[in-house]
Amino acid sequence: MTEYRLKDFEYGQYPQLLSPEKIQQRIKELAAEIARDYHDKCPVLIGVLNGAFMFLSDLVKELKIDCEIDFIKISSYSGERTSSGQIKLKKDIDCHVEDRHVLVVEDIVDSGLSIKYLEDKINACQPKSLKFISLLRKRNSAKVDFNIDYLGFWIENEFVVGYGLDLAQKLRNLPAVYILK
Ligand code: IMP
Ligand code: MG
Repeated sequence: MTEYRLKDFEYGQYPQLLSPEKIQQRIKELAAEIARDYHDKCPVLIGVLNGAFMFLSDLVKELKIDCEIDFIKISSYSGERTSSGQIKLKKDIDCHVEDRHVLVVEDIVDSGLSIKYLEDKINACQPKSLKFISLLRKRNSAKVDFNIDYLGFWIENEFVVGYGLDLAQKLRNLPAVYILK
């Protein structure tokens, strides 16, 4: 198995898909859109751990409205590059979402199975509204029907790392998104 190291990415061995500047610019636009839609609603933002921690933290810094933040942790990948398709709940939310406006914050949408799982789970708690934001979404990879309300970027169906996204728990701390060829 190839060992991927942080340094190899910094020295240009792997193609950079999204620069830190491009990501931050898009986050500003998304935050402005969300602020308009939720300005008097005090939404609860639920970050999906671990991947969305970086996106959520940059997003809320740009979000100039009152909001609450919570996290949920699920896993579907078994450690390598393919999803097991089996979603496991690792940490539940602590907040009460009944009658609240909920916005789920994801890093990347691939098959959509995680989104579907979260949609069913949160809807069972009867929120006032439920929407989804994801930084990335892969083209031609959906296995189920779902809707993403706010999207950073469409990308090709390739494995990517950095900016929260990992390979076997590493490389999350890269400030840009890279394609793992
Ligand atoms: P889905 O349930 O197939 O849509 O997969 C969603 C989750 O799988 C994401 O939230 C990520 O945690 C992970 N994932 C999907 N594609 C990638 C990738 O290219 N790199 C790293 N993680 C990924
Ligand atoms: Mg994720």
